[in-house]
Amino acid sequence: VLQLTLAVIKPDAVAHPLMSEALHQIILENKFVIVRNKELAWRRQDSEKFYAEHSGRFFYQRLVEFMSSGPMRAYILAKEDGIRHWRDLMGPTKVFRARYTSPTSLRAQFGLTDTRNTTHGSDSPESARREICFFFPDFHVEEWMDKD
Ligand code: CMP
Repeated sequence: VLQLTLAVIKPDAVAHPLMSEALHQIILENKFVIVRNKELAWRRQDSEKFYAEHSGRFFYQRLVEFMSSGPMRAYILAKEDGIRHWRDLMGPTKVFRARYTSPTSLRAQFGLTDTRNTTHGSDSPESARREICFFFPDFHVEEWMDKD
């Protein structure tokens, strides 16, 4: 089925002059349709709200700080089985696991640490819906997605 997913190029990658352009090309080469795409920056409160489910984890503070440290680029992507495809392209969260198990993945190639790991992608249709609304409040997600 055609799926929407929310993909984010995180501040570590956007900070590098060539990286966000390279990642944009990789998105196109992998036949994702770019439905929406914008650059934005979070205040600390936005970061805390988005990652509320991780509050209490040992990496929460550094995650929240990192995600509000500079501009990022958010995409609504559409593709057949797009959630899984984008996650496969990203590779595992942890950068050394990514380098070991999926050396050609984005996080393996470009990730700096487990926190500064280059990209984000929704992990289910429910989180895609939530995350698309969070990043693109004007986007009418119900008109694009069936009730799962
Ligand atoms: P993401 O998949 O976007 O959403 C949760 C984020 O928390 C994850 O990317 C990483 O940036 C961060 N994260 C997850 N696990 C760890 C970890 N073990 N150590 C540091 N940061 C982590």
